[in-house]
Amino acid sequence: MLNEASVDVRAGVTAVAHPNIALVKYWGKRDESLALPVTGSLSVTLDIFATTTHVTLAPPVPADMNGDAGLTGDVVTLNGRPAGGAAAERVQGFLDLVRALAGRRERAVVESVNQVPTGAGLASSAAGFAALAAAASAAYGLDLDGRALSRLARRGSGSACRSVFGGFVQWHAGTGSGSAGDVSSFAEPVPVGPLDLALVVAVTDAGAKEVPSREAMRHTMATSPLYRAWAQASNTDLTRMRHALARGNLTAVGAIAEGNALGMHAAMLAARPAVRYLSAGSLAVLDAVNALRADNVDAYATADAGPNVVVLCPRADADRVAETVDAIEAVRSVHLARPGPGVRLRSERPGGD
Ligand code: ADP
Ligand code: DP6
Ligand code: CO
Repeated sequence: MLNEASVDVRAGVTAVAHPNIALVKYWGKRDESLALPVTGSLSVTLDIFATTTHVTLAPPVPADMNGDAGLTGDVVTLNGRPAGGAAAERVQGFLDLVRALAGRRERAVVESVNQVPTGAGLASSAAGFAALAAAASAAYGLDLDGRALSRLARRGSGSACRSVFGGFVQWHAGTGSGSAGDVSSFAEPVPVGPLDLALVVAVTDAGAKEVPSREAMRHTMATSPLYRAWAQASNTDLTRMRHALARGNLTAVGAIAEGNALGMHAAMLAARPAVRYLSAGSLAVLDAVNALRADNVDAYATADAGPNVVVLCPRADADRVAETVDAIEAVRSVHLARPGPGVRLRSERPGGD
């Protein structure tokens, strides 16, 4: 299902994926090593900020490890530079999983470029691991359908399982533990009624966050007295969101999304010590969204684990919303997005087109 062009695996495989912004958030794992979430979540994949990832395999390392034919480790380049310790280890751990699934031993050379700011709360890990899952599984000869690919991407970064698909996507929390949990926790597209949704991305700070999402959600679960309440509300939000999407009711979609996101940030703020991603600039955007609503524009805000805010609105109002947030001093750049495509393979190398 992924192939747009026939892929010559020996020359390496390139995959392209986009970030997704959750309307009902994922925040907390019930199993860290399998990346099984506490709650289900629902997102929209963007049509901007592509991540392009190229994977080439090196020959197998000889048994005595002294041969010069193969690599002894994976080589990982992120945004044109060798990936730092934690980022490289995360990719290597993910490739170990792919190798185990494929029954192969070759090391890999991975080159990935994000158009989205990396680690800034705009879902670089989602685009990054969806692209890596598609490119690496193809390079190692695995033929996975969308559901299986979403399970694999989930192991790299939970939110990545949703970027496997385009448009509106639900990640089912799944039930149970071990392999039952693994099999039942996947993403799939959700049906939507007529809905002309635009997303206006207001970047207040493109720098990488100090506390990665993974660590922050662990800490929130462990110490926030509000975490359980948010998770419970999230289950109700998910049901309501499904209905609002099916009806094409943009006002309900926006209101549920904003409430769910602010509730997640409230749970983080109640952690001990607090995790605070929203900045003065983020609050200025939230104020502007309230003012737009008071002026009868159907605009609602959401924010992931970072200070950048995404405004949901009807496509017809997107230019006005963009102009309004662009006028805010703390807003560095504004990007207009629409629902976009799922991950796909490409025949060219990064930057080769
Ligand atoms: P974000 O809000 O951007 O998703 P996270 O804290 O969830 O931030 O994840 C950021 C981390 O994801 C990076 O530090 C890196 O380890 C990983 N990552 C981001 N982009 C890529 C990519 N293209 N390929 C592989 N790993 C990536
Ligand atoms: C706030 O998927 O980045 O963006 O699974 O540990 O890699 P890991 O975390 P990640 O968390 C995303 C959290 C969020 C909400 C969401 O995307 O649903
Ligand atoms: Co992330």
